[in-house]
Amino acid sequence: MKFQVKDLKFKTNAVGLVLTYFIKDKPESHILWKFLGAADKKQVARLFSNKEFQGKDKQTVVIPSFKKGKILLVGLGEKGKWNLRRLVLTARQIVVLAKQYKVKSLTIAIENLASAGESLEKISQVVTENIVMADYAFTKYKQDKNSNFAISEIIFLTSKLALSSVKQGVKVGMIVGKWVNYARDLGNTPGGDMTPTLLASKVKEISRRENNIKVTILDKKKIAANKMGAILGVAKGSAEEPKFIVMEYQGASKIDKPYVFIGKGVTFDSGGLNLKLDKSMDDMWMDMLGGAAVISALAAIAELKLKVNVVGLVPAVENMPGSASFRPGDLLKTMSGKTIEVLNTDAEGRIILTDALTYAERYKPELVVDIATLTSACMIALGLKTSGLLTPDAELENKLREVGERSGDYVWPLPMWEEYEEEIKGIFGDLQNVGKTKFGDAISAAMFLYQFAKKYSWAHLDIAPTMKVVEGQYLAKGASGVGVRFLVELAKLSEK
Ligand code: BES
Ligand code: ZN
Ligand code: ZN
Repeated sequence: MKFQVKDLKFKTNAVGLVLTYFIKDKPESHILWKFLGAADKKQVARLFSNKEFQGKDKQTVVIPSFKKGKILLVGLGEKGKWNLRRLVLTARQIVVLAKQYKVKSLTIAIENLASAGESLEKISQVVTENIVMADYAFTKYKQDKNSNFAISEIIFLTSKLALSSVKQGVKVGMIVGKWVNYARDLGNTPGGDMTPTLLASKVKEISRRENNIKVTILDKKKIAANKMGAILGVAKGSAEEPKFIVMEYQGASKIDKPYVFIGKGVTFDSGGLNLKLDKSMDDMWMDMLGGAAVISALAAIAELKLKVNVVGLVPAVENMPGSASFRPGDLLKTMSGKTIEVLNTDAEGRIILTDALTYAERYKPELVVDIATLTSACMIALGLKTSGLLTPDAELENKLREVGERSGDYVWPLPMWEEYEEEIKGIFGDLQNVGKTKFGDAISAAMFLYQFAKKYSWAHLDIAPTMKVVEGQYLAKGASGVGVRFLVELAKLSEK
């Protein structure tokens, strides 16, 4: 998909003209009104006077133009309620509508999507990244790869004064959108193909293209040499070797403390000997989406050349049952020296993350954020429209909630009070990998991770709720690519 940014005098040749309206807007108030011929003005005005189109939220009408192509009328709802959240959905909805009516190029006026308090650069970025996300489909495994009607060109029109900021926003949005879709590709790849080895090779491929990322892959031998007993323990039951992926990006001065992003990379989670039953094994090829988010975010940050130092760590394993599997009751010695009593082999994510949290210490990080498809309990607690945010640091919690809001990857806090620590204290080992009660496992899991993250500022995102696209998000079924926008936004905020 190509993007162009032009001023309002530009004679657009796109076949779809997008007219967005708030409730109570007059048809002639739209910046692009002058692009319509007399006959088209008449037919649009008639839709308004007939109340066939009222600018209601999510309302759309598509009509053929007397000139050429189609006019797409898109409602934005009440002006007072317009915000970035609605903009995200509207941008995607426009793409879905264009695909439905086979409109292959679109003209969109940026100013008509503006929101109070937001720069046009931000508006353009959000519109662009969500257009790119909505254009995505996972067709790699289909014989007919062209089954997805792709939009070839988007032309943004804006006032002369805003040209350069809109161009900048579009540039950022294209990069971020592309890497969100890359994370979706990784997540949608079936478990039989997406092994720790393949994931590591994808990362190496990225480092060859983005030459400012240094990649180190620790194989099983080096993982053992680092005494990462947690990762080794979970990997035991699989024929696939574990990998520990390290990505280092230096965009600021060497002495600036880095941000460390850690992503759970379980390429398939069968549950291990505590085998998942029936439907609960569905989607478990996506259990590496935290890792995919970290990998893609680093690639995006490097391509954007952000002035910040960032490290990405992805412990990648497959969790399988077999004669060599780790067992309930096993005591694993982690890299930190702490031991974990395995009470359930299906709570494997929190186990492998411990070694990554310890590995992160060597960077003396400014902040560590881990992101993981960690618990179904988080889905029960929060539903499917937000990720869980868990951190003992109240100030950080507020900051990250805002990052979520502004990035489109929404997060919502759960408590991390001391009282919950009891849950995961071990009997025969230092810690046990599941809580003493069956309740509040999203919190128990985070409390468990926290025991390995006390040497730096830390937050945990549980993305089990949001790993898959749900109805009403105007995105192709499958992996959502959650977390990429969040981590890039966080890195942008932290630029020197
Ligand atoms: N990968 C799962 C969590 C998950 C479940 C993510 C569904 C997305 C959708 C994790 O490894 C797991 O199996 N967790 C268990 C923990 C339990 C055994 C304490 C769970 O949530 O059921
Ligand atoms: Zn599991
Ligand atoms: Zn898992």
